[in-house]
Amino acid sequence: MQSHFDSDRIISAIQDQRGAKMNTAVLGLQWGDEGKGKVIDYMSGNFDVVVRFQGGHNAGHTIYYLGQKVILHLIPSGIFSSKTLSIIGNNVVINPLQLVKEIKNIKALGLNSENIIVSSNAPLILPFHESLDIIFEESRYTKIGTTRRGIGPAYEDLAGRRSLFMRDLLLDKEKFYQKVNQLNTYYNKIIALLGGQPIDLDHYIEEYLRAGESLKPYIKNTTSILNQKFKENKTFLFEGAQGSLLDINFGTYPFVTSSNTTVGGIFAGTGLSHKALDKVIGISKAYTTRVGSGSFPSEIFGEQAEYLRKQGGEFGSTTGRARRVGWLDLVALKYSVMINGIDEIFLTKLDVLDNFSEIKVVTEYEKDNLKSAVFDPHMEHLSDVTPVLKSFPGWQSKTSDLRNFESLPQNTKNYIKLIEEYLNIPIKNISVGSHREQTISK
Ligand code: IMP
Repeated sequence: MQSHFDSDRIISAIQDQRGAKMNTAVLGLQWGDEGKGKVIDYMSGNFDVVVRFQGGHNAGHTIYYLGQKVILHLIPSGIFSSKTLSIIGNNVVINPLQLVKEIKNIKALGLNSENIIVSSNAPLILPFHESLDIIFEESRYTKIGTTRRGIGPAYEDLAGRRSLFMRDLLLDKEKFYQKVNQLNTYYNKIIALLGGQPIDLDHYIEEYLRAGESLKPYIKNTTSILNQKFKENKTFLFEGAQGSLLDINFGTYPFVTSSNTTVGGIFAGTGLSHKALDKVIGISKAYTTRVGSGSFPSEIFGEQAEYLRKQGGEFGSTTGRARRVGWLDLVALKYSVMINGIDEIFLTKLDVLDNFSEIKVVTEYEKDNLKSAVFDPHMEHLSDVTPVLKSFPGWQSKTSDLRNFESLPQNTKNYIKLIEEYLNIPIKNISVGSHREQTISK
């Protein structure tokens, strides 16, 4: 049988100097869609446990499994390795109907769903969260452009101390009904005030109970399982969803998602301590994209943007929306490297730039005649900076068939060197296509 894994080529990336495997986090450094799915899938077979720790089905990780395109929204990418546990942690907000659908899909691919464990303490997304996401967005003066999956309102419930959790799906029917009814009644008042349609609980309660029944074998205390695995010296890969610039605290507020997408989110979303993390790999595209609203200093428009979008297939894997595109923003990238303590970069989609005669990067921002390389993510600051661009000649040759660093054109090497020098950390891997073998390790 054809193997999905070819781990030898990357094993050095996850070993320390004595050859021991390191617990590794893979985090996006931009506004999401950096190609984390491919990278995590590329690495996950080398770990005992892969963990999702934040977000929900707003994420979409695209993976090519034995030639077939698979999009995962909730299930960690460890699912493609029969030896790896895939854990959904306590700070992932879960729509149980979506999870049931995804488990069914991976079973249809012949994969082993018994390796999935879902935290009993993960907050539930219920139908009124989705309605509220749409109603809140429509009533906002500055639209965020959310994925409309109910993510924000579900996290609001967690902070508001009203959430229902995966464990509630295991209650008897009466108790579950009572709990959901309380929240449904509360939110119907708010929905009515904002001019929306009330949600009829009787329309969905049975479907949720059925989902609960089928998810029963997966719902467990993940904090205690993860800590037990840590004691047994099992290895972990922490799979980030969304990018660092969408972080609720450190991102480009208010145009962010509602969870901590940066390194601190790992501890809040697993119950493991910092001792369980040895290495942080940052993923960045060779250019920048963004979905939804918000400042984007290096954004480009017109024919060049159309071309970049088409070459990069820059359409959302969750919503299908056309992504905004721009040059690589080194000021923003350096900030993400700083707040996450990134050890090395995995640069993705380098091949998308193959045909450009000129390539630009942002090295500073200018505001009120002052230049600065400090990234201040808040809207009031970022919305009126002018990017200072550095430009240099493109390589204008095909890189997607190349497999070793030495064979890359000199101009490509110059581009990579410039990024490394600016960030002061190495780029250890470069992706030159969507398939797992289209990766150059340095
Ligand atoms: P929400 O997470 O649906 O509330 O959306 C908040 C913002 O995060 C919007 O700008 C979304 O487009 C963006 N967002 C959420 N998830 C993703 C993702 O997986 N990739 C890229 N952008 C995302």
